Amino acid sequence: MIVPVSRRPARPEPCCLVIFGATGDLAHRLIVPALYNLAEQNLLPDRFCVAGVVRTDMANDALRDSLLEGLRRFATLPVDQAIAQKLFGCVTSVTADAADPPSFDHLGAELERLEQSSGTRGNRLFYLATPPAAFAPISRLLGHSGLLRETGNGWRRLIIEKPFGTDLASARALNSDILKVATEHQIYRIDHYLGKETVQNILVLRFANGMFEPIWNRNHIDHVQIIVDETLGVGHRGSFYDSTGALRDMVPNHLFQLLALVAMEPPSRFDAHSVRTEKGDVLSAIQAQSEEEALSNSVRGQYSAGRIGDTALAAYRDSANVATDSTTETYAALKLAIDNWRWAGVPFYLRTGKALKAKRTEIAIKFKQAPFAMFSCTPVERLAQNYLVIGIEPTEGIALQFNTKVPGPSVTIDGVEMTFRYKDYFKAEPATGYETLLYDCMIGDNILFQRADGVEAGWRAVEPFIQAWRQAGSQGLIPYAAGSDGPAAARVLLERDGRSWRNGG
Ligand code: BG6
Repeated sequence: MIVPVSRRPARPEPCCLVIFGATGDLAHRLIVPALYNLAEQNLLPDRFCVAGVVRTDMANDALRDSLLEGLRRFATLPVDQAIAQKLFGCVTSVTADAADPPSFDHLGAELERLEQSSGTRGNRLFYLATPPAAFAPISRLLGHSGLLRETGNGWRRLIIEKPFGTDLASARALNSDILKVATEHQIYRIDHYLGKETVQNILVLRFANGMFEPIWNRNHIDHVQIIVDETLGVGHRGSFYDSTGALRDMVPNHLFQLLALVAMEPPSRFDAHSVRTEKGDVLSAIQAQSEEEALSNSVRGQYSAGRIGDTALAAYRDSANVATDSTTETYAALKLAIDNWRWAGVPFYLRTGKALKAKRTEIAIKFKQAPFAMFSCTPVERLAQNYLVIGIEPTEGIALQFNTKVPGPSVTIDGVEMTFRYKDYFKAEPATGYETLLYDCMIGDNILFQRADGVEAGWRAVEPFIQAWRQAGSQGLIPYAAGSDGPAAARVLLERDGRSWRNGG
């Protein structure tokens, strides 16, 4: 579908993107390919520069070549030489190191020089694409050297990557550190799930249609499932993952973003303040569990050796940089409740795991069963379940499952599915998912970014699980074969409530 010119998004104001961690994986794999896609769509500012921050001196050409190599490997579109050349012509290497505070004064001087030559009017977007341990020190130094001060000399924004803390206390400490040097409106806490079109569409599905919202509550919904199954193992991320685990890596951020969008109250306006307030509120309403309840309402597993399709995968404990007696979970399933008027009594079942049989990210909303009584005098034995399924990945779309009469002389009923697939309606170019997020940072819209209260509410809700699992150690950690559906106990978590995961698992 061609978007009319009048509805095309505007180009952002001139700005300089300052990337800390410019030689790192994230810059190469996602940030630069996303910038390229924005350039291809004419959505970068007409005056733009990229300052790639490196810790030891690096020639401009060396940094450009390395990023170009990243683009060649990870581009989602064929690379057009002219566009790439223009983009990489904007890249300058700048040296600064958080271990050497005076280097930030040098950084400030370099940025001013760059801004003079590129005409970016002092608008700066600092992107912390670094290991998490560097978030606080870099922000502090940016603050202390005056680089985040907005005094009529352009705007200053700070993008912070995930993971935002490792528990409630560390997330609070990080928020407090950053909020000492920047105001909330300057801070963009990224969760890449919010860059997915299918995730952004949840609010539109709920609030731009008259038919869903009236039944979107405990009177009609039996329960909600949020499923993020992955086929990949831990790969080369052993040392990060072994101190993190499936719960911290996925739940308080990605799965809770999905939960918040499905469960939040309608915001009064489609703006960052209203949407983030409602999201924060619903996350704060997740029922606090005692450690005992957390143990009974959760399942954790760790993959052992197995096969995913044709590929053999070693056991998690045999992965590089993972302790051979690791008790880190690679699979987590939780049952949560939301303590508010809309959701009282409606369980939310969440699960995520690595090295599973199939990749599937979806939200399944199961509606209450219709009364069976009128069919008791017919051959119908049972009614299939009504689900609304929001497919995030790899199936991008929405499906509604309902009952239909099977054609024929007798009353026989079967479940059928009505589906919408994005690819049938819209021609979207493959993208990294970071394009909208970067564009929004440049235009100053933080609707798709997490606010401090939302982040802390998410950690607060998972804290009992973190504590209970830490106490339990290896007890209750269930092995599952790579390539399987995960621990059978996750099935029991629902079966004991008379329910089951949609499509097994
Ligand atoms: C990342 C996690 O944030 O999200 C990874 O650190 C995980 O472990 C990834 O694989 C999943 O993202 P997606 O978009 O593939 O579902």
